[in-house]
Amino acid sequence: MTPVLKATGVSKAFGGLKAVSAVSIESHAGQILSIIGPNGAGKTTFFNCLSGIYPLDSGTVELGGGRIDGLAPHLVSRAGLSRSFQNIRLFPEMTALQNVQVGRFARSPRQILGTILRTRAWRDRERASLERSEELLAFVGLGDRADSWARALPYGLQRRLEVARALATDPKVLLLDEPGAGMNPQEIVDMMALVKSIARLGVAVVVIEHHMKLVMEISDRIVVLDHGEPIAEGSPDEIRRDPRVVEAYLGRSEEPHG
Ligand SMILES: Nc1ncnc2c1ncn2[C@@H]1O[C@H](COP(=O)(O)OP(=O)(O)OP(=O)(O)O)[C@@H](O)[C@H]1O
Ligand SMILES: [Mg+2]
Repeated sequence: MTPVLKATGVSKAFGGLKAVSAVSIESHAGQILSIIGPNGAGKTTFFNCLSGIYPLDSGTVELGGGRIDGLAPHLVSRAGLSRSFQNIRLFPEMTALQNVQVGRFARSPRQILGTILRTRAWRDRERASLERSEELLAFVGLGDRADSWARALPYGLQRRLEVARALATDPKVLLLDEPGAGMNPQEIVDMMALVKSIARLGVAVVVIEHHMKLVMEISDRIVVLDHGEPIAEGSPDEIRRDPRVVEAYLGRSEEPHG
């Protein structure tokens, strides 16, 4: 099967610190690939490389067969890759619905003339866009909170809104950076169920997550980073038994969170 997203030998250093060293992944439609590793392993930096936030020192990133490395973040987004952030990035003074609609702006170039003239086609597109945003809110479990201010939502729901915002561009690939961070155990279980349902829609999902038990349950494949380097790659069973993984976590008497 051809991967939707293929990163090959991606490297990124900050001064002398090799944050990401020759990391390769393949992400497939309808599957969940998890990236795990101790704090500071380079997981978020790798996402920043994939999503165009940092230029790569070396390596390539292909989406649907075309190169996306070197593209600015909004063009990466338009090519079909979307992401959520480890620290929630919502517009607190907008409603839940408005936050999703803003996410949709990245999707297509604005039709300036249509906007000014309010053509029929423009109105149809706006209506379809509104309906899609409402659908996405319902999908993440916020159907009855469309008009709530983002800042007024409980933290766990803000995290879900962050996922809806990332889905607003109808991405082929979705990168989720610790979607369960700061949530209580039940909220994390619910979030992982949501992640699974996103994959079932046919999206290629790449998720960074610290909660080992859940990672083992939801992942098709797992890549383990340590000090920026890929130290293991495989199915959950293979990863569980891999001595290098046990060493990376337990060798420093640092239990995987969760
Ligand atoms: N913009 C930056 N400038 C300099 N160093 C950075 C920058 N971003 C990240 N780093 C460093 O790169 C390394 C990898 O950081 P990164 O945030 O990617 O790790 P992580 O695996 O996401 O960790 P965590 O689990 O804590 O989120 C760390 O040593 C970090 O301090
Ligand atoms: Mg991180």
